Amino acid sequence: MSDPGIPCEPCSVGPPGDPEGEPILRLEGVETVLEGKKVLDHIDLDVPRNRITAIIGLSGAGKSVLLRHMIGLMKPDRGRVLLDGADLMKYSRKELFEVRKRFGMLFQSGALFDSLDVFENVAFPLREKTNLDETGIRERVRVILRKVGLEGSEEKFPDELSGGMVRRVALARAMVMDPEIILLDEPTTGLDPIIRNSILNLICRTYQDHKFTMVMISHDIPDIFHWCHHVVVVHGGKVIEAGSPEAVRNSTNPFVRQLVEGDIHGPVQLM
Ligand SMILES: Nc1ncnc2c1ncn2[C@@H]1O[C@H](COP(=O)(O)OP(=O)(O)OP(=O)(O)O)[C@@H](O)[C@H]1O
Ligand SMILES: [Mg+2]
Repeated sequence: MSDPGIPCEPCSVGPPGDPEGEPILRLEGVETVLEGKKVLDHIDLDVPRNRITAIIGLSGAGKSVLLRHMIGLMKPDRGRVLLDGADLMKYSRKELFEVRKRFGMLFQSGALFDSLDVFENVAFPLREKTNLDETGIRERVRVILRKVGLEGSEEKFPDELSGGMVRRVALARAMVMDPEIILLDEPTTGLDPIIRNSILNLICRTYQDHKFTMVMISHDIPDIFHWCHHVVVVHGGKVIEAGSPEAVRNSTNPFVRQLVEGDIHGPVQLM
């Protein structure tokens, strides 16, 4: 990483401001039942275009399932997922493949290909979705691996990487195409504090250059409030709060208050 020691500056992604135009993604009345359990319960949600949205909530709240709906990897039993106003469920498989070229995604598990080394894992979307020649691919992969601090690890295989390295390779793969929409499922979980801040800085700097739309699931509360424009709180498969970091921080909802303050007392009693 070029500057891993940068302290965690309050985000310079800028204030929430007015969202640019129509929301890029809109979920309308989304309900999904898995194994007899309603895991998404009438979700209405707008993802503002060219802004960073953070999704927060307890483990099992439905955050990862929600993110998978945004890219059409999971289909709702009821409701619609609209990308630029078009219902994702109405696309054919082939059309959905094309639509997904607009996205980069980091899965919670990392989801690297075990049989491919770091270089090939990151090069994968470029080989699949672009006509770049080998020199172009090498250059793109080299640059992004340097940015995530993994220069020199190109030939390592996933089982030779630490958990934090897996996450950074997955982040590099999600961002290597400079996608228009980036979905990140816990990009900083399991990272040491210096790497974590470097990753957040990298996301922030890349945002300043490209002004993409990002949805990022995070447990970094309250730090994440500095690094996003819009916060969505998910609880029991429902969106119970959504708004600017300031608005969510000042929410009067007792659950949101407990989550934001990390209080052991409140509506959620774990022990
Ligand atoms: N493929 C699946 N089949 C059945 N149930 C599932 C499946 N995926 C998720 N679930 C259930 O849906 C609920 C929400 O899961 P989800 O992975 O979205 O939680 P989460 O908010 O991302 O939690 P965490 O913070 O631990 O990652 C959980 O009860 C989970 O067991
Ligand atoms: Mg999850």
